[in-house]
Amino acid sequence: MTDRPAAIITGASRGIGRAIAISLGAGGWDVVVNYRSDEASAKGTQRQIEDLGGACRIFRADISVAGDRRRLVDFAKDSFARCDMLVNNAGVAPTNRADLLEATEESFDRVMGINLKGPYFLTQLVANWMIEQVKTACDRKFRIVNIGSISGYTSSPGRGEYCVSKAAMTMMTRLYADRLAEFGIGVFEIRPGIIETDMTAAVKEKYDKLIADGLTPIKRWGRGEDVAQATLAIAEGRLDFSTGQIIDVDGGFHLRRL
Ligand SMILES: NC(=O)c1ccc[n+]([C@@H]2O[C@H](COP(=O)([O-])OP(=O)(O)OC[C@H]3O[C@@H](n4cnc5c(N)ncnc54)[C@H](O)[C@@H]3O)[C@@H](O)[C@H]2O)c1
Repeated sequence: MTDRPAAIITGASRGIGRAIAISLGAGGWDVVVNYRSDEASAKGTQRQIEDLGGACRIFRADISVAGDRRRLVDFAKDSFARCDMLVNNAGVAPTNRADLLEATEESFDRVMGINLKGPYFLTQLVANWMIEQVKTACDRKFRIVNIGSISGYTSSPGRGEYCVSKAAMTMMTRLYADRLAEFGIGVFEIRPGIIETDMTAAVKEKYDKLIADGLTPIKRWGRGEDVAQATLAIAEGRLDFSTGQIIDVDGGFHLRRL
């Protein structure tokens, strides 16, 4: 085991997860990058971290599958023998946007499996491992970050299952924050707004216009790096007297305005 802290980041082959992995890698962390299928992109994340002098291992696992979650944690144990931070970032939008009155149960199960059940039970596995580590290394700090969304409180009837999955993630954050506080494990939700990634590429023009028309007080798209900076602040212990906290990284989208 090294002296460097280690993190597991789900869905870190691209987008927000990749930005988080790179900023932790550059900040002296050993990183396990999880991805579902895009190995070439995951290797790209790994290369960028190694170019910055960091250590990175990549692991393919579908976060909605119990066996894959166990294998991911075993891989992290074999790789770095420690886990100081888990970032539950992997998430998907519905494959097809469908109106609430027509959307299918199949899409609901898929989105909930990846966005909620996966992180919920991965957190259970990693939290138990962290608790074991707390017993032998009481000078170390442990943290869990869940990547939620403004969709957790903003109605989009064209992707209800996504909104429900992110709303539930807020309660998941509260539950684990409450349960894990006695072990000194902090749990946070970072709530991104409209972030420029592959996930939002299909609606780029729509949001370009909305942002230009004043949808957000800060008139620009968010970037993966914006979310990574907030994650790094938690990783570096700047919020250690907080837990269960929601951190909005959304250009002020959450403000009510008149
Ligand atoms: N982009 C935005 O505007 C935005 C806004 C709010 C919240 N978010 C959330 O941020 C997170 C990352 O979003 P993004 O925009 O970077 O998306 P993205 O589509 O660019 O990347 C998603 C990542 O998740 C991985 N992934 C997907 N399904 C997986 C599975 N079953 N198991 C493991 N990995 C899986 C992919 O391989 C990829 O690495 C998601 O949870 C998303 O809901 C995004």
